[in-house]
Amino acid sequence: MLAYVYDSGVDDLDDLADAAAQLARPLNGLDPTVFPSVAAMERDLIGFVRSALHGGRDVVGSVTSGGTESCLLSVKTARDLWRRDHPASSAAGQRRDAVADVATDAQRGIRPRLVAPATAHAAFQKAARLFDLEWDPVPCRPDGSVAASDLIAKLGDDVALVVVSAPAYPSGALDPVREIAAAARSRGISCHVDACFGGLVLPWWPGVAAWDFRVPGVTSISADLHKFGYAPKGVSVLLHRGRRRHRAQFFATTRWPGYPVVNPTLLGSKSASPLAAAWAIVQHLGADRYADLVASVARVAAQIRARVASIPGLIVWGEPTGPAIALIADPSVPAAQRVDPHRLADAMLARGWRIQHQPGFVQTDGTRLPRSVHLTLTPVLERTLPQFSAALVEASDAVRGQPPADARALLVAMRALGYAGAHARVPSPRAAWRLLRLAGAADVGGAQPMAMLMAVIEGLPAPVAEALLTELLARLSEPR
Ligand SMILES: Cc1ncc(COP(=O)(O)O)c(C=O)c1O
Repeated sequence: MLAYVYDSGVDDLDDLADAAAQLARPLNGLDPTVFPSVAAMERDLIGFVRSALHGGRDVVGSVTSGGTESCLLSVKTARDLWRRDHPASSAAGQRRDAVADVATDAQRGIRPRLVAPATAHAAFQKAARLFDLEWDPVPCRPDGSVAASDLIAKLGDDVALVVVSAPAYPSGALDPVREIAAAARSRGISCHVDACFGGLVLPWWPGVAAWDFRVPGVTSISADLHKFGYAPKGVSVLLHRGRRRHRAQFFATTRWPGYPVVNPTLLGSKSASPLAAAWAIVQHLGADRYADLVASVARVAAQIRARVASIPGLIVWGEPTGPAIALIADPSVPAAQRVDPHRLADAMLARGWRIQHQPGFVQTDGTRLPRSVHLTLTPVLERTLPQFSAALVEASDAVRGQPPADARALLVAMRALGYAGAHARVPSPRAAWRLLRLAGAADVGGAQPMAMLMAVIEGLPAPVAEALLTELLARLSEPR
C-alpha cells in the first residue's frame, strides 16, 4: 500500500502505540487542566517537532487531530489576524461581531484571499470555503513546480495567507519557500508551510535547502505525526511563530451558563489516545531513529527512480524532494510506447500493490497537469523492494501501448442527460447514483479497476464529478 498508511517497518512499534493509546483511553483531551498528562504529552510533542523544524523559543503551537485540521486552523488563524490588522472603515467598524469582536468581512464587503500553488493540498480549499476566504490557486508549470514570481505577483493587501508545501502531495515537489516567504514578509502577509507530509522527513533528507523556521517570513508550519511520525491516525502538530499568532487560533468563551470553553482546536471533547500513541513513539524513536528511517526512505526513493528510468514509456513527474513520487506517461515517446499511469495502477492492484490514481487536471489558466499515479514511500517498502520493482516492470510491460481509458461514449450519454458539457447541471443524489451505475462505477473499490472512473472525472465539469463522488462515498455508509 503506497498511499494512506505510513509504516515504519520497525518491529513492535505498533504494539507500543497500542499500549500507550490504551492507557490514555479514559482521558478527555478537552481539558489539560483536569488531565495534566495531556498537557505534558502535548508539550513534549510540540517541543520535538519545533526542534526538528528549527523553531526557537518564540515558536509555539498545538497538537491537532490531523493534517486537515492543522491546515484549517492555519487558515482560520491567518484570517482572524488579517481581520484584526485591517480594521474596518469607520461606518462598518462600529458594527462589530459580538462574538469575535472583530468586524466581519460581510460587513466590510471584503473576502480575504488565500493564495497557493494549484498543487497545495485540497484541505486549503476546504478551509477557504469554511472560513469564507477566496481560494486563489496559482497555476503550476507542466512539471508540477510553481514559479515563485507567479505566486508573488498575487500578493496584494487583501491576501490573508499564502501557502507553500514541503513537499506537495500530488507531485512531491518542494515549493520555493524562501522566495515566497520573503515576499510575504515584506508585505506583512502570513506564510504557512504545509509540511503535513514532509515535516518529519525533510529535516533529515539529504541536500534540502532550508524551508522551515530558519526561513524568515515563515509564520506557521503543519507537520503530521500520523504520517511520517508513524503514529496511528489522529495526530498532527501546528506551529506558529509568536504567541500572538498562536492565540488567534483559539476559541474561548465565557458567554454561556456552562463551563468556560477554551478550545485551541476545532473539536471539543477528544480522545487522547492518538496523542499518547504519538508521544510514546517519539520517545521511543527519538531524532536519531527518525533520521535512520528517513535514510531508508531515501534509499527506496533512489532505487525506485532508477528502476523507473529503465522502464520505457514511464517517467517520474517533475523533480520530487522527499518521500512522494508521481509517475506519468512519457510524452516524448510515441503513444504506442507509453505507459498510462492509471492503467498501470490498475495492473499493480491486480498484482497486490496499491498505488494511487491522480486524475489529470485543468488549471485556472487552461493549462493541464498530466494524469499521474502517486507513490508514498515508507521504510517498510525497503523490505520488499525487489518484489515491488519487479511488479512495476511487469505491470508496465502489460499495459504499455494501451490507450488511456476512453470515457467519450459515457460523457456523450451524460451530456445528453444534461450532466456534462458547458451547461451541465449538478445531479441530485438519485441522478448521481444513476450516472455512477451508467459508468459502471457504482461498486468501485476493493481491487476493481479505477481507470474508467478517473477518465469520467477528468471529462466532467468539477461540480458534477464532485456530486458523483459524494454519492459514491455516501452510499458506502448507508445502511442497506
Ligand atoms: C501536504 C499535505 N497536506 C495536508 C494533508 C491532509 O492531511 P490529513 O489527511 O491528515 O487530513 C495531506 C495528506 O496527505 C498532505 O499530504
